[in-house]
Amino acid sequence: MLEKEYKAADNHGRPSEVSPLSGKTARLRPVSFAHPSEEDFAKLLDFYCIEWLYEPRSFPLRWEGKKIVEMFTPDFYLPELDLYVELTTLKQNLLTEKNRKLRLLRQLYPEVNIKLLTKNDFIKLLAKYGYGPLSEVKVEGIERVLYSHAKIQRRVRTLARRISHDYAGQRLVLVGILKGVVCFMSDLMQHLSIPVNVDFMAISYYGGDGQIVKITKDLDSSITAQHVLMVEDTVDTGMTLNYVLGHLSAHNPASLRVCTLLDKRARRLIDVPLHYIGFEVPDEFVVGYGLDYKGEYRNLPFIGVLRPELVQRGASS
Ligand code: IMP
Ligand code: MG
Repeated sequence: MLEKEYKAADNHGRPSEVSPLSGKTARLRPVSFAHPSEEDFAKLLDFYCIEWLYEPRSFPLRWEGKKIVEMFTPDFYLPELDLYVELTTLKQNLLTEKNRKLRLLRQLYPEVNIKLLTKNDFIKLLAKYGYGPLSEVKVEGIERVLYSHAKIQRRVRTLARRISHDYAGQRLVLVGILKGVVCFMSDLMQHLSIPVNVDFMAISYYGGDGQIVKITKDLDSSITAQHVLMVEDTVDTGMTLNYVLGHLSAHNPASLRVCTLLDKRARRLIDVPLHYIGFEVPDEFVVGYGLDYKGEYRNLPFIGVLRPELVQRGASS
């Protein structure tokens, strides 16, 4: 492979030199892309927080004796999808040549997952993984993506493993507060390896500043003498959780713990005990993966920060 200069962007945007083949999670960012469409593709992947490597590997395709006489270097590798991507235009001569190389590559390296994509194809591919065409999923309101779908899934699996381990040999009642928790509850419960019951409550906020909590739907079954895990999407000021925990403990459960996907610690007004935390988030309004702003954005498969100019505080559930 041709020697290139690479920089890896870490989470804080400070570039550092890395070798092209090292660093499993670093985003390898070339100083310049060979083609503008590659840069577009990289920007789209960055927006969705999908990890990518630029030309990390070359595949020898033809040899004369021991000498490699033909190689193919796909443009991108997406580790989370275990997928190589070669971008292409519809120019027939280029397409024929690339198709020939791809056929050879697939014969020689059958375990390698590679796709030849035009710009339209890559938008369709993103849609297949839940990152649908931009206009359809209202991403115009999103300032930036905080957690990709893949990252959320990994974190949820880790939490589920810890919970299954901690409650081994016991039955657990999961209690969620509608509606923000639906995606998290659904994914979390599927990864628990202990027997569980699931129940939901719904609440609304009233009073001048919206800080008085009222239960609009109570539990369907008794939790007395049961091990209860309260599952929340976000703990912000802590008022909601504090109120609901008071309500639940009045029913004398055998134990009562809290699992929250997001902990917005910077805004805490009431100290509430959190036993399992997905991510600690900055003091910004986030949406997606069940979280809404005025009833919208719940269906985004990722969690993103809403553009601050769109936010009036206290408008979600
Ligand atoms: P708290 O009572 O202030 O802790 O608020 C918790 C509730 O507010 C959560 O259950 C969420 O439904 C909602 N909430 C807090 N922050 C956000 C956010 O950034 N996006 C969406 N909903 C939020
Ligand atoms: Mg809520």
